[in-house]
Amino acid sequence: MDSERLRSGPDSRPYAAPVLCPLPLRGGARVPGPGHEGGTHGALDGTGLRDLVACHGSPLYVLREAVLADTCGRLRSIFESCVSPLGLRYSAVANPLPAVQAMLRGAGVEGTLVGSGWHYRLARLAGVPADAILFEAPGEADPELTSALEEGARPVVATPPDLARLASLAGGRPLAAGLRICVRRPDGVLPKSGVPLEGGEAHRLARRMGHQGPVRLTSLHASAGTSLRDPAALAWVCTALADFALWLEGDQGMAVDELDLGGGLPGRLPLQGEPVGATPPPLEDFAAAVERAWRPYARAFARPPRLVLTPGRALVEQAMDLLTSVVACKRLADGTRAYIVDGGVNLVPTAWWYRHPIEALDPAPASPEESAVLGPLCMQIDVLGRRLRLPALRPGSLLAVRGVGAYGLSQSMQFIYPRPAAVLVRADGEVAELRPRETTGDLRERERVPEHLRAISWETLR
Ligand SMILES: Cc1ncc(COP(=O)(O)O)c(C=O)c1O
Repeated sequence: MDSERLRSGPDSRPYAAPVLCPLPLRGGARVPGPGHEGGTHGALDGTGLRDLVACHGSPLYVLREAVLADTCGRLRSIFESCVSPLGLRYSAVANPLPAVQAMLRGAGVEGTLVGSGWHYRLARLAGVPADAILFEAPGEADPELTSALEEGARPVVATPPDLARLASLAGGRPLAAGLRICVRRPDGVLPKSGVPLEGGEAHRLARRMGHQGPVRLTSLHASAGTSLRDPAALAWVCTALADFALWLEGDQGMAVDELDLGGGLPGRLPLQGEPVGATPPPLEDFAAAVERAWRPYARAFARPPRLVLTPGRALVEQAMDLLTSVVACKRLADGTRAYIVDGGVNLVPTAWWYRHPIEALDPAPASPEESAVLGPLCMQIDVLGRRLRLPALRPGSLLAVRGVGAYGLSQSMQFIYPRPAAVLVRADGEVAELRPRETTGDLRERERVPEHLRAISWETLR
């Protein structure tokens, strides 16, 4: 493998090792957050977090190593107590930071699902071996796919044309591949990706993979969506895949090694519109539902496949916060106290669908009042939270938006501000920078103004 190419990618700057920034922890009120109640878990106190912001800027994504490790260990033990053997893979789309993937791997996650060549390279940067990466990227260009296949990544056929393309890229060599099946949920929702089960398309494609060409079917994949509220949806996927695998074994003489039930396990955030105090169903309910669904199949196969989960959200949601600073205080027309902060829905797009807890980090318990937290963008929809019980804050006060680890950083966008830094806080309080804050230098490097349009010297920009 060409490790230099991998480290830098064909079109990016050389990989820079994370900067370690020692931060002495000082005294002050501890700030527990969801996911680490009662424990230290590397949670910096208010003073430590203020030091972090002084060092890396505000707003700031903060990844908490111990929360990630605990969440992963908990999820594994809940499911392994119901289903064995069980494989656990990480869906990198939820949060592709290499540090996240490396930590999950250290916590026993066996591989990563990626949806693009870009994410494939991030997984490799994280140290995930190529043969532990499931590469499902129907939109990816041939060179990206070819190099991943050459390294040993396992492709997933998600649309009928994928099969012909893989066959031609395989160049006559045998290639193990998965097949993603689109299974309609019990509530009628038809997931977007995969080859439809209804109408027999998935059966036809599987038959072709079994009996023609170099691409050999070794695993079946389906996913019921995201943030599921009904454990029956996961059980339904399990049943559909098991039926399909039994048909393959009985009618077609093809045994698959793996049934991947996908992601969709909920995190701990309530959805907007759910009653206050409502919490998503516990993971135990999902594990029990899968166990019940799988029980009749466990002995039905001559060679039973292994069940695998590929969650994203449930593993990473609680492990990351966004620290953000108050820039202005005001009253809304209805008298509600409102704080405008320096990070908005561009950094926490999930705030449109979920109620993120938002906590004041300064020891200022005075005058708690129902308040709104608004982002700095020029849109009405830039609201991080409403009806939050917050103390009286001033410009400069620091807030933590909790639970932004899933689809927060990964779906964030610059819009009108540079992207913030991301740091890792280890259980012992040590801090490592994962991603530096964007600077005007980055802007100069990325943007182009044609010579004839240049009114000022680009170099004079500060
Ligand atoms: C095929 C597949 N598997 C797993 C996931 C992860 O979903 P979640 O983050 O809800 O667990 C996704 C997310 O888009 C997906 O498309």
